Amino acid sequence: MINRLVLLLVMCGGLPLITMGQQPFTTKFEVGKKYLKIPVKNGAPKRNVDILLNGDKIRWFNVELADDTPDWYAYLDVSAWKGSTLTINVDALNSNSSAFSPVVQASDDGNKMDYKEPLRGQFHFSPKRGWNNDPNGMAYYKGEYHLFFQHNPYGVNWGNMHWGHAVSTDLIHWKEMSEALYPDEFGTMFSGGGVVDTENTSGLGKGKDRPLVLYYTAAEKSWEQGLAYTLDGRNFTKLPHTILDKITDGNRDPKVIWHAPSKHWVMVLYVTEANDLHTMHFFTSVDMKSWTFASKIIGGKGDDRYMHECPEFFELPVDGNENHKKWVLTGANSQYAIGTFDGKTFLPEEERLFSQHGRDYYAAQTFSDEPKGRRVEIGWWRTHTNKEASSFNQSMSIPMELALKQTNKGVRLVRTPVLELQKLRGAVTKVSAKELTPDMKNPLAGVDTEIAEIKLTLMAKDAKVIQLTVRGLGINYDVAKQELEIDNVRAQAPLVDGKLNLQVFVDRTGVEVFAAEGEVFMPVNYNLNPTDRTYSLQVKGGKADLQTLELYKLKSIW
Ligand code: FRU
Repeated sequence: MINRLVLLLVMCGGLPLITMGQQPFTTKFEVGKKYLKIPVKNGAPKRNVDILLNGDKIRWFNVELADDTPDWYAYLDVSAWKGSTLTINVDALNSNSSAFSPVVQASDDGNKMDYKEPLRGQFHFSPKRGWNNDPNGMAYYKGEYHLFFQHNPYGVNWGNMHWGHAVSTDLIHWKEMSEALYPDEFGTMFSGGGVVDTENTSGLGKGKDRPLVLYYTAAEKSWEQGLAYTLDGRNFTKLPHTILDKITDGNRDPKVIWHAPSKHWVMVLYVTEANDLHTMHFFTSVDMKSWTFASKIIGGKGDDRYMHECPEFFELPVDGNENHKKWVLTGANSQYAIGTFDGKTFLPEEERLFSQHGRDYYAAQTFSDEPKGRRVEIGWWRTHTNKEASSFNQSMSIPMELALKQTNKGVRLVRTPVLELQKLRGAVTKVSAKELTPDMKNPLAGVDTEIAEIKLTLMAKDAKVIQLTVRGLGINYDVAKQELEIDNVRAQAPLVDGKLNLQVFVDRTGVEVFAAEGEVFMPVNYNLNPTDRTYSLQVKGGKADLQTLELYKLKSIW
């Protein structure tokens, strides 16, 4: 294990590089309010900022500091040091910069934000401010779903990895909390999982309180795996040492589960081995803190990203049959393997399967300890939200329930949007069963909504193309090819008994389409035209029989 003191000394050793006209800047302030406001100008030169207490670095980050009018403010929680004097050091600043002259504090970080920025997804979680990528530590704990996430609180691009944090009681409405994990002397806080230690095997519980245990990679320095825990879902404590030594610089994203039959914990860790080989290593532990290597499986190499990053590992019944279960192992691109697991070794039976066919859906994770026993997944959805002076960037997908289904090709992962999403349904337009012909009047004429859920079932008959257009974006089904196409993203979506079944969620930043009884999930990031709120259904080259069509206006979660 690397000693914190040694790391601190190494970190303080670097000399800053300064360009002409700029100089190091330092100022002090007494903490009177909860937050220090940090002015950000997207695209401005990146500055390294250190916050010190009595000469010790307590926070550090790089940020595109605004010299004059900022695009937005980042809020650094300094409440732990109320009444103390903190020093702000910036490595280089223009002499006329007003960045921290004066220092501005605030007691509220914009909890009253309306989340109505033009590109703010209206039913997808996105951070109040800054950048997000992977969901992390997803777990249900003490009455709330916890969604942690890779977060840069100080910029709209990747960097300064923290674990941001949001909670929800229904998987749909999220409340963003303070940062859960800050970079420390071991490294920045890369991805990992979370799980409740119900039996207090870790000994980290207190009285009746059982810990929610979070595993992360301390990246970009030690590359060791770390453990943090909480007893209230709000305050987080890291163990003073890491819990797993570095294997290679490319080891990361620990996911931990309880394996009941073996009565031990299992960690799956992504490890890049020599020649850019992607592997998943399995470890076991009885106390959550000391881990023993058990086995590994080999994925792709280099650009072949099978089993690359962000492992997720769970067991599910096939067709709901508790006596017939299979294990699923996935990597960040959602490619997965199905197999058996004895507590130490995963034996794949089928490999390189695809459960999502969209664009830029990545690093999905599922909730541990889900109270209804469901396997609910949320993924990072790379939305095109970094525009102009935007104060936030990226988002998550909607939550989906995963299941295993026996198909004629084998056992496959299927997805259904969680039922809780129905809470968002507002006014509905229902189109009754009818024959659809190429020259018919648009059955969705008159619909006017920005965000929507559409459910449709039709018999394809001799139609060649079925086209559902949402706010100008075509969701096109080619009947002969049995293929869905959206903005040049294509997916095979077989008709089921001659029927096309679609469920479509439309938000400002794209569509998520479910087809072929959940076998096809197609998230397509696409910024819809804000002035177009129209919808249409058309058939081309022949006729189809509409069986059901419902279009719900959705309510914003914010
Ligand atoms: C996946 C990933 C993870 C890593 C994290 C860093 O998107 O590269 O492997 O932990 O992002 O933000």
